[in-house]
Amino acid sequence: MKRLLLFILPILLIVAVGFTIFGIMQIRFTEERLMDDLQKKARAVDESIEFSARNILLNNDLKSANRLVESFQKRERLQGCVIYDKDGNILAITERISGWKDKEKSYLAEVSVNKASRGSLEKFGDSSVYSYILPVMDDEKNILGMVEVIYDTSYVFTTLTSLWRRLSILLITLLVLIVLIMLLIQRQIFILPVLRLTEWFQRFQKGDTGSLQPIKEKGELGKLACEVEQVALNLRVARKVVTERAVERFEKEELWTQEKLKDLVRARLGDNSLFVVSNREPYMHQVDENTGATNCIRPASGVVTAVDPVMRACGGTWIAHGAGNADKKFVNSKDKLGVPPRDINYILRRVWLSKEEEAGYYYGFSNEGLWPLCHLTHTRPVFRESDWKMYKTVNQKFADAVLEELPHKPAFVFIQDYHFTLLPRMIKEKRPDVTVALFWHIPWPTPESFSTCPYQNEILEGMLACDLIGFHVQSHCNNFLDTANRLLESRVDTERFSVVQSGKETFIRAFPISVDGSFDAKGENADQSAVQRVKDEYDLNSKIVALGVDRIDYTKGIPEKMLAVERFLEKYPHYKRKFVLLQLGAPSRTHIKRYHELVGEIDELVERINWKYKDDIWKPIIYLKRHFSLDEIKPFYALADICIVSSLHDGMNLVAKEYISSRIDLTGTLMLSRFTGASRELSDAILINPYSIEEFADLIQTAVNMPIEEKKKRMEIMRKIVSENNIYRWAGNIITELTSLRKA
Ligand code: G6P
Repeated sequence: MKRLLLFILPILLIVAVGFTIFGIMQIRFTEERLMDDLQKKARAVDESIEFSARNILLNNDLKSANRLVESFQKRERLQGCVIYDKDGNILAITERISGWKDKEKSYLAEVSVNKASRGSLEKFGDSSVYSYILPVMDDEKNILGMVEVIYDTSYVFTTLTSLWRRLSILLITLLVLIVLIMLLIQRQIFILPVLRLTEWFQRFQKGDTGSLQPIKEKGELGKLACEVEQVALNLRVARKVVTERAVERFEKEELWTQEKLKDLVRARLGDNSLFVVSNREPYMHQVDENTGATNCIRPASGVVTAVDPVMRACGGTWIAHGAGNADKKFVNSKDKLGVPPRDINYILRRVWLSKEEEAGYYYGFSNEGLWPLCHLTHTRPVFRESDWKMYKTVNQKFADAVLEELPHKPAFVFIQDYHFTLLPRMIKEKRPDVTVALFWHIPWPTPESFSTCPYQNEILEGMLACDLIGFHVQSHCNNFLDTANRLLESRVDTERFSVVQSGKETFIRAFPISVDGSFDAKGENADQSAVQRVKDEYDLNSKIVALGVDRIDYTKGIPEKMLAVERFLEKYPHYKRKFVLLQLGAPSRTHIKRYHELVGEIDELVERINWKYKDDIWKPIIYLKRHFSLDEIKPFYALADICIVSSLHDGMNLVAKEYISSRIDLTGTLMLSRFTGASRELSDAILINPYSIEEFADLIQTAVNMPIEEKKKRMEIMRKIVSENNIYRWAGNIITELTSLRKA
């Protein structure tokens, strides 16, 4: 529109200025003509009565004088007539203009002296009149008197005003016509071809290549279209070649790597696009309140840790809530950007939520309702009707965003977590041809627990629109199958591990999530100078360091960890000054009361335990409460003798796997809660019950004293498990399962 205005405005301006100049000239000319006419008429009248006036003046015949001036009483424009004697005294005046007597008439003397007639515009009351005065002379050219006729000039101004009005209407009509013609021309020669091109590209983008006709534009646009068509063709050919090579390579490779996953995706998905949906976005733009600088951070989230490497390998589109306070500055007109920012591999589409939507859907239903419902931590779930309504609204908003992105041909939609239980159904209702999978990153409760949720049926039905639902461990799958069996009218097939509801079959599978093992793959560990810097900063040289890395969440058992450290130092006081718990805590969901209280609870605990044991040079707990990037965490993993994961309940826990993956030199001990999904695979960790503080404290002592050889042995086994079952295998298994479902 702006561009169109730039184009039309100068033309309108030129036409308007030209027309106005023409109008002014036209008015001037008309005015002159009318005044000239007036003068001629006045002179003619004056001359016609000159003879009678002469006789009247010679005979001083006042009666005839009055008769003569009254004969003008009824004329329309000619207002009246005045007869003067030679000294300028009025002898007779038309009744209608009797007020003329009082007017100051300096011009009479001039006419009398010059003996020449004179016409001029004069003020008369509020209006202006035209006066034409003629000297009346005897045969010897001696002045006898003067005759003056007065004309009404208002019709001149009325004529000019109406001319102005007509010219203005003409100008406006002309301008409107010009705009309409320009719009029409612009539409014909520019907008329509561009629209045709855009539609062509949209269809190409959405994969509708089969029915695409060649572009037939002419002229310069046609040349551009032709070039772009060639690029599109090359792209199609290149994709096909890449897919064929990927199949060959995939069949050769053994261990799961990023490359192998890429090949699998190309071989299995080919041209079909992959769409990931999650609440938490993988890259978030935040303005640092202290420095004012904008940073791109990777949020502390298991979903992000796991799915980002997969998307880097596969490409595709990730749709998530744009929650960063500077997010809007970094997206294009379609709310998209390429990520990771310095090495673009896939597209992030941000969905914007209002404060009310975020409060109801995210803080409310997802995190005060479903989160405590699924975690056995004795925190009561809160279900508010208003939150549920907002949850539905936001699920629909995401469904609309996904449907907008989907190509016309079949595609894969991979939904993450408990924020989107209704999304699968919303998508399938509109696009039954699309394959939809949901991965549940947190535990699934028993049917008894789940039945406390007032919206249980809608949630289960929403989820069962999926073709595949994944959980971390088999026991969560079993709980889900039990729940569907008991709470819904559905058939559970225990042979095929599926739920059949209204003729639709959904497969339930366990896919233990993992990390990418990039520490290993790149042969890189934390940079030693960074490790030394951290040691010096926190005075950790020659100390036994136990590390905790958690989001500040009541499911993570952070207070229990601190209480166990307190008890450990009580029972084994000789570790004072030798042992330190280094706890990194990323603030999370702080608008929720329970989380807010937890922050205070942990602060108090740290304060109390440190006060109890600390001396001039040592304190037992170092608590760093802020967000740490993976690069910042690496030196902490590298220096930690022990890593403690003490979750009260956790779907998997990727900190445990990241720690294992970082111990390239086979040192270090992992203490892992029995209530994490990770404990099923990592049975060589020291398994703890965080509720039993006494046992926990003793096991810290066991970890501290574990012989080097045993540590190595355990670490070796766990590292093998993590590297073999890495995130690429997780994604590979899900994609293999999904694509085989599609063929079935
Ligand atoms: C868990 C959930 C994720 C979530 C993460 C962080 O790992 O499974 O979906 O992203 O917690 O929580 P937040 O609410 O900050 O995204």
